[in-house]
Amino acid sequence: MPSRILKKRSLIPGQTSELTLEAPHIAAKAKPGNFVILRVCENGERIPLTIADTDKDAGTITIVYLVLGKTTAHLETLKEGDEILDLCGPLGKDTDIHKHAGPVICVGGGTGIAAMHHIAKGHHTVGNHVIAIIGARNKDLLLFEAELKRFCPEVLVSTDDGSYGHKGLVTELLEERLKADPSVAEVVAVGPVPMMAAVARTTKPFGVKTVVSLNSIMVDGIGMCGACRVSVGGKTQFACVDGPEFDGQLVDFKELSSRLSAFKTMEQISYEKFRS
Ligand code: NAD
Ligand code: FES
Repeated sequence: MPSRILKKRSLIPGQTSELTLEAPHIAAKAKPGNFVILRVCENGERIPLTIADTDKDAGTITIVYLVLGKTTAHLETLKEGDEILDLCGPLGKDTDIHKHAGPVICVGGGTGIAAMHHIAKGHHTVGNHVIAIIGARNKDLLLFEAELKRFCPEVLVSTDDGSYGHKGLVTELLEERLKADPSVAEVVAVGPVPMMAAVARTTKPFGVKTVVSLNSIMVDGIGMCGACRVSVGGKTQFACVDGPEFDGQLVDFKELSSRLSAFKTMEQISYEKFRS
């Protein structure tokens, strides 16, 4: 189904943008953890993007993307009022959200912070005490801090270069928080694969339930093509229908990284052609 861009906000100029899309059918059903698959033009590839927010009354959804290759570069050329050719969703299983006695820590890295925002909001809505831990390479690349502060009583920030907040990685803040507070009920992580793997390693000694949201390559998004397969606890799972969220202690992150980089050369050639 086509979808009109109602609002476009540049979050990091030339690199990351937020689109508010007219999608009443998706907004009515979408839950935290769900994603959409979009196709910008007739011969375009299908890419999955996690829903960062919804407004059921306005009939809109919000997505945030990092300009990484041909499709996201094409998306970046669209303006308010333009249409995306196909928008399909909501897809994927909803995040398992219920009231916990202890706090829930939501960790977001880079563009993953926007996707984590919807999950954090869901936990807040059921009454959980949500601690957000967000990190970026530097201050200018940090997203959604103000949005998270609207409902998270604690927002802890790290930057790799120390330009804002703690100098270092999100996992250092996470480890400190877990040591200080044994009542943490659950940790959710969304971001680059090395970050999600590091979050799972950090939480393991504490025995805290750890959920990661996987950004596998997807084609159909309905469990038929096998493109998004991942190994979880030694079993093959399809991120689009069995996930995208899985137990972080059981995910084979090495295999996931290798599958994500399988088409890197072709993706680079296609991106260069688009830019020339
Ligand atoms: P990035 O590489 O700049 O990393 C952001 C932060 O993550 C870092 O500042 C650091 O705090 C943390 N981090 C990174 N590597 C780490 C490691 N090895 N150990 C501990 N912490 C680490 O992030 P980026 O360039 O903005 O990339 C964002 C990634 O998030 C992309 O790969 C994108 O595909 C992914 N993403 C995933 C989803 C999802 O639903 N899973 C949604 C949006 C984006
Ligand atoms: Fe095709 Fe998941 S995207 S099976």
